[in-house]
Amino acid sequence: MIDFRSDTVTRPTQGMLDAMFTAQVGDDVLGDDPTVKALEDKVAAMFGMEAALFCASGTMANQIAIKAQTQPGDEVICHKLSHVYYYEGGGIAMNSGASVCLLEGDQGRITAADVAMHINPPNDPHRPLTRLVSVENTMNKGGGSVYDFGELQHIGEVCKKNGLKYHLDGARLFNALAETNETTKDYGKLFDSISICISKGLGAPVGSVLVGGKDFIFRSRRIRKVYGGGMRQAGYLAAACIYALDNNLERLSEDHRKAKQLETILLSLPYVHTVVPVQTNLVFFSLKPEMPASDFLKKLRDNDIFAMALAPQEIRFVTHLDITDEMMEKVETVLKGMS
Ligand SMILES: Cc1ncc(COP(=O)(O)O)c(C=O)c1O
Repeated sequence: MIDFRSDTVTRPTQGMLDAMFTAQVGDDVLGDDPTVKALEDKVAAMFGMEAALFCASGTMANQIAIKAQTQPGDEVICHKLSHVYYYEGGGIAMNSGASVCLLEGDQGRITAADVAMHINPPNDPHRPLTRLVSVENTMNKGGGSVYDFGELQHIGEVCKKNGLKYHLDGARLFNALAETNETTKDYGKLFDSISICISKGLGAPVGSVLVGGKDFIFRSRRIRKVYGGGMRQAGYLAAACIYALDNNLERLSEDHRKAKQLETILLSLPYVHTVVPVQTNLVFFSLKPEMPASDFLKKLRDNDIFAMALAPQEIRFVTHLDITDEMMEKVETVLKGMS
C-alpha cells in the first residue's frame, strides 16, 4: 500500500518502538512521568520558551491555546481556511465561546495590514473585543505554503501595539523551517503560544506539544484536564516524540523533494487542470472535468495507491517518511498510464 492521504499515516519504526518500550513512566496527571517532563523541557528549550505541555493532538493543543487566551465573546482573527477554524469542528465556538474574524489571503496566509484593518475598536460596545491572532505555518489548506518570516514579525508588531495575543498553529512548523533560515528560537521570541505536532511529518504515532510562558502553560494544564486530556503513563507516547525530534527532523527536506517530484509529474499530465505551487510536503491539484476525482482515486486504489479528495475535482497527495523512492517510481508509472 502506497499511502499519500496524509503524513499522519506513518507507522513507528523499530527504533521508535524500542524507545517507547524502554521509557521510564509515571503518572503524568500527578506530575511524575519523567519522560513527559523530558519532552516538555526539550521542546520548551528548543523554542527558548518558559514551559511546554504534552497534548494528545494538534487540535487539543490549538483549542487549549485559544481557550487560555480568550474570554467568551472575544474575537479571534485567523484565515478563513485555517485549521483552528475550518477543521476543528467549531471548537472555537464550543470550547471558548469566542467569535471569529475570518480573513482571506494568498495560499492561506494573512498579512499584517489586513490584521490591523480588522481589529475592532475596543471602546465600541457593539463589537467583540479582538483578543487573539492565530496563524498557521505551514498552511495546510494553502497547499503547505510557508510564511515569509518578515510578515509574521509585522503581524507580531500589530499584535503588540494592540495588546493582542499571538498564536502559531505549527503542526508542520518543522516543514517550514526546513525551507527557510529561521530557527525555533526565532519563533519562540515572536509568539505567545505555539503548538507543534509530532504525529505528522516527524512520524510519532500520537502527540503534540504546546509551548509558551509559565503562566500560560499553568492555565493550559488546567484546561487540558477539563478537556479530558490528562493522560497517565503518557511517557510511552512522549518517548516516541523525543525519538522523532532526535531522528526525523533532518530528513523532512526529503519529503519536500518527493512532493516537488510529484508536482513535476502532475504538471505533465493531460488530465490535470492546476497544481498549487509546492513548497513543502503537501501537493494540492485539480483535475479536468473528463477525469472525475472518484475515477481517479479508484484507478489509484486499483494499484494500491491512496490519496485524498478535498472537493469534487480536487486531490491532495502528502509525502512523508514511509514513502520510498521505489514507491515514487510506481506512482509515476501509474499516473502516466492513466492518460
Ligand atoms: C495545520 C494543522 N493544525 C492542526 C492539526 C490537528 O492535528 P490533530 O489531527 O493531531 O488534531 C492538523 C491536522 O492535520 C493540521 O494540519
